[in-house]
Amino acid sequence: MRIRERAGGFTAANEVRKMGIYPYFRPIDSDQDTEVIMNGQRVLMMGSNNYLGLTNHPEVKAAAIEAVNRYGTGCAGSRFLNGTLRIHIELEEALAEFTGKEAALLYSTGFQVNQGVISTLVGRDGAVVIDRDDHASIIDGCRLSFGRTIKFEHNDMAALDRILAGLNDATGLIVVDGVFSMEGDIAPLPEIIRLARKHGADVMVDDAHSFGVLGENGRGTAEHFHLEDEVDLIMGTFSKSLASIGGFVASDAPVIDYLKHHSRALIFSASPPPASVASALAALRIIQREPERRVRLWANTHRLMDELHAIGIDTGRSKTPIIPILIGDDFKAFEVCARLQQAGVFVNPVVSPAVAPDGALIRLSIMSTHTFDQIDRAVDVIDRVLKECSVPRQGASV
Ligand SMILES: Cc1ncc(COP(=O)(O)O)c(C=O)c1O
Repeated sequence: MRIRERAGGFTAANEVRKMGIYPYFRPIDSDQDTEVIMNGQRVLMMGSNNYLGLTNHPEVKAAAIEAVNRYGTGCAGSRFLNGTLRIHIELEEALAEFTGKEAALLYSTGFQVNQGVISTLVGRDGAVVIDRDDHASIIDGCRLSFGRTIKFEHNDMAALDRILAGLNDATGLIVVDGVFSMEGDIAPLPEIIRLARKHGADVMVDDAHSFGVLGENGRGTAEHFHLEDEVDLIMGTFSKSLASIGGFVASDAPVIDYLKHHSRALIFSASPPPASVASALAALRIIQREPERRVRLWANTHRLMDELHAIGIDTGRSKTPIIPILIGDDFKAFEVCARLQQAGVFVNPVVSPAVAPDGALIRLSIMSTHTFDQIDRAVDVIDRVLKECSVPRQGASV
């Protein structure tokens, strides 16, 4: 099929636009805070991954501006060749130290980390074993690797055990989201590590949603479970708690050196620009210096969850600042999002294939900078809109 035919046959987005409930690509016209301006209207932002509220922090902004003044706006090359600046090395050293690993390596996005690391490390004789709910970038990394990809049902440790036992001589790399990005539950890392050791496999944890969030010092899933020495590779992104864009992987020095010389997503793509690197470094320093931001994030998370539970809303498996509300039908989820926005609350829809058919969600994410008053207001609006849209609650039909 030619490309215009393929594109012309895609009508789903227009159908939803005609219904006035299209929920994607909604432009924000203000700074990204707990309240933002959209179409001239002030709305409560309940759908940002800016968990620690740092995208708007004066120190983070100043670091970005200073880096532009010092180094310019772009790198005009990959890390491998002319695109390594002193500031890339500084951030790599700081991330290695923070995660307790020997070395770290920056990529231009978190997506590229998963794509570039998994495809490089899993060779023809290897297998990558992933949770069915892992992020799309992990799946794409598997598609590009020469090894086998084997999926297990979400958090099914008996299935993982069986798969690893069946690998025979193939080397296994288990890759899981530390915090699952759609439903906010935490991977059962102690059991994953136990099975990995039993079968001689390696473990990579995607800490996109856990970095700065989980663990006493915000070091992520491994710290949360006191397993920092057991995880072989930790990846993270700068696009959430680190208030920027880019990503990193941290591991043993020889693994990082191997990636530096083999990973195509690193070698054949320009390095993250100075402003992004400097803002991530400034955000990391604030995370280290101000643990109270994380304390506040968890207080907000518990308040939002408790209030939703009090009005009969089931938040599924979530244990983190990602809080889903089950809606069911895709169109109903779009309608709920549209009505919430009209009423001044921004949330994201999650529909199939990201979740099972009839498993559509709205996904709330909380920030440490939200006030209790903002959370209470959001819950009042959600309560009203779910009633208007006849979304059933626990123990009640509407
Ligand atoms: C679990 C997970 N991994 C990786 C990524 C990719 O990160 P980035 O936005 O930096 O490309 C994301 C972001 O959506 C994510 O949620």
